[in-house]
Amino acid sequence: MENGHAKYRVAVIGSGNWGSVASRLIASNTAKLPSFYDEVRMWVFEEILPTGRKLSESINEQNENCKYLPGIKLGTNVIADPDLESAVKDANMLVFVTPHQFVEGICKKLVGKLTPGAEAISLIKGMEVKMEGPCMISKLIADTLGINCCVLMGANIANEIAVEEFSEATIGYRKDKEVANRWAKLFTTPYFLVSVAEDIEGVELCGTLKNIVAIAAGLVDGLDMGNNTKAAIMRIGLREMRAFSKLLFPSVRDNTFFESCGVADLITTCRTYLHHCQLTIQQMDTEK
Ligand SMILES: NC(=O)c1ccc[n+]([C@@H]2O[C@H](COP(=O)([O-])OP(=O)(O)OC[C@H]3O[C@@H](n4cnc5c(N)ncnc54)[C@H](O)[C@@H]3O)[C@@H](O)[C@H]2O)c1
Repeated sequence: MENGHAKYRVAVIGSGNWGSVASRLIASNTAKLPSFYDEVRMWVFEEILPTGRKLSESINEQNENCKYLPGIKLGTNVIADPDLESAVKDANMLVFVTPHQFVEGICKKLVGKLTPGAEAISLIKGMEVKMEGPCMISKLIADTLGINCCVLMGANIANEIAVEEFSEATIGYRKDKEVANRWAKLFTTPYFLVSVAEDIEGVELCGTLKNIVAIAAGLVDGLDMGNNTKAAIMRIGLREMRAFSKLLFPSVRDNTFFESCGVADLITTCRTYLHHCQLTIQQMDTEK
């Protein structure tokens, strides 16, 4: 305990591109902030590298994720752990950052293994679509584990944050602003500015639905249409994202769409699709 307040221990569940960058961001803060333990445990889905070495061992020896974030040091207080149960041991702040299709299985393995009172945040973009209808990832985590779960979304291309280019993000929360502010403190750096919004569904849906608009933006590029057409697709797309979100959750707020999770993520994703398309076309040209 510190000044009568609990000291927080952070575990990151996921170690892909965004998981590694998120761990690096968080670790730079836990090393400085007295209310957090320095060490950040990062659960690694174990993989064998082409050299025959285990990914988790390589991360701990090199302080670098050579597969998902090569060339970037994570911070010596980031410890890779391939054992899920040991990675979350004693952690009271859990950051979920795996591809969405693996979350349910991971949560099932964690039932009964968490520290009482643990809080979660999801950085995962996407949703589960079940027979009963769509299910937000934060709800899946919260319901499976019986814990509170916030979300962090925004114009957050991991490789740009890794080299400390300025970005913003939005934390969506349901009721507890104090918890949301604690998450914001954990993530905020001079190059990563985090705001909070009491609209968890709105923030999370922005991170999911923008991908659909970005596919349309990619088609605009593929059809060699111009900037005006793309801007129209983005504007109409944003309006449809808002309409669809409100249809699912009438509580969703208009202002959320003007935060980083809304218009900013839409812009960056629509631009990134263009970049991916160009790379693919270049690759196809060289293979001809
Ligand atoms: N990369 C980005 O720029 C970025 C930015 C914002 C949000 N996100 C979101 O973050 C989440 C994670 O994306 P990422 O880019 O870090 O992933 P990634 O594609 O870089 O890595 C995939 C990860 O999944 C792991 N994996 C593979 N099979 C698995 C299994 N069976 N069970 C569990 N894990 C398995 C891999 O080991 C690896 O750690 C996604 O929801 C994505 O939408 C990514």
